[in-house]
Amino acid sequence: MSKRSGWTLKIILGLAVVAAGIQFIPVDRSNPPVAQSALAAPSQEVGDILRAACYDCHSNETTWPWYSRVAPASWLLADHVSEGRSELNFSTWGEQQPRRMDHKLEELVEKVRDGEMPLKSYALIHPQARLTDEERQVLIAWARDARAQLDVPADQRLEHGEERESGERGTGERDR
Ligand code: HEC
Repeated sequence: MSKRSGWTLKIILGLAVVAAGIQFIPVDRSNPPVAQSALAAPSQEVGDILRAACYDCHSNETTWPWYSRVAPASWLLADHVSEGRSELNFSTWGEQQPRRMDHKLEELVEKVRDGEMPLKSYALIHPQARLTDEERQVLIAWARDARAQLDVPADQRLEHGEERESGERGTGERDR
């Protein structure tokens, strides 16, 4: 064997060992229990859209695909899910203060309108999560309506960035 192919083999073996080794790093793929605090009773249509496009990251009912068991993809997924849940969790929706709900619905309108949610990388591999213009409009109309029903007085609404000061985490910007 030439010197060169000897090295190539060593590098390939080395990578194989690393690839196998990282599989043992624990990844949290748990689905916590779902509180029976339904989200502002959305219609069947809204519920279906949220389930198809958002629930994998924003609920405790995540469907973990096979590649969620393979590092390093598993790390990325677990990170999206834990960050997504901490920002917005439809499974525990009813447990938060109305002013936080109000703020989340406001963010939702912006993210859906601007095509930032669902995450592009997710929509790429989950065709059922790609929202049509009509589905976007349905979500936005629902969120606006839900905000109106919450009726949080203007002077009590959370502004962008205010959430963390009020003791709750996350405003959508990355803070780590
Ligand atoms: C693949 C995972 C994933 C999917 C699917 C997903 N999100 Fe997100 N979402 C995240 C992550 C991660 C964040 C936090 C980082 C950010 O804001 O970009 C986030 C943030 C948000 C926020 C901001 C909350 C705040 O207070 O700033 C809203 C609102 C939101 N998502 C709504 C949605 C909606 C609505 C859908 C479905 C149409 C959706 N997301 C689908 C992962 C996801």
